[in-house]
Amino acid sequence: MSTIIEAPRTPRERSSKGRVNWEKWGWLYMRLSGVLLLILIFGHLFVNLVLGEGIKEIDFAFVAGKYATPFWQWWDVVMLWLAMIHGSNGMRTIVNDYASHRTVRRVLLIGIAAAAIILIVLGTLVVFTFDPCNTFIPADQALTFCPVN
Ligand code: HEM
Repeated sequence: MSTIIEAPRTPRERSSKGRVNWEKWGWLYMRLSGVLLLILIFGHLFVNLVLGEGIKEIDFAFVAGKYATPFWQWWDVVMLWLAMIHGSNGMRTIVNDYASHRTVRRVLLIGIAAAAIILIVLGTLVVFTFDPCNTFIPADQALTFCPVN
């Protein structure tokens, strides 16, 4: 049996009218999140690696300083969410393109979705519950403003 690929501008069939076209929204999401990710990723790299002392400045105290401000917390969380959904949706496209076996495709798609959800939840928790004076840090390595000092 041969597969017929319609011309790109062929109008959609009547039966699909009224339904949400998820593939279209996914396609748009990749482009829009791509533009935002350019700003977020290169802004992140510039602030961390170019401004101030550059890479030499990055240590626990640097991270603690950034996560003391809601601005950087939200910057990182938005970057995490956009990149994880962008990356996993992109991987979904690749799996759909190349994994022709139904079960293999299903397992891969579930794996991608699970990885994305776990990393988004963990990453968001880390950013918003980050405590620079947590009790796991040995007293001799604690930051100067922590109560143990
Ligand atoms: C610098 C910011 C980024 C921009 C401007 C960008 C842009 C894009 C665009 C426009 C597409 C769609 C390509 C197509 O449909 O032909 C895409 C696909 C993809 N992106 Fe990104 N992206 C960025 C960052 C990322 C990041 C951080 C990840 C990983 C977490 C990622 C993973 C992917 C994957 C897996 C695909 C699917 C590739 C494919 O369909 O062959 N991208 N990206």
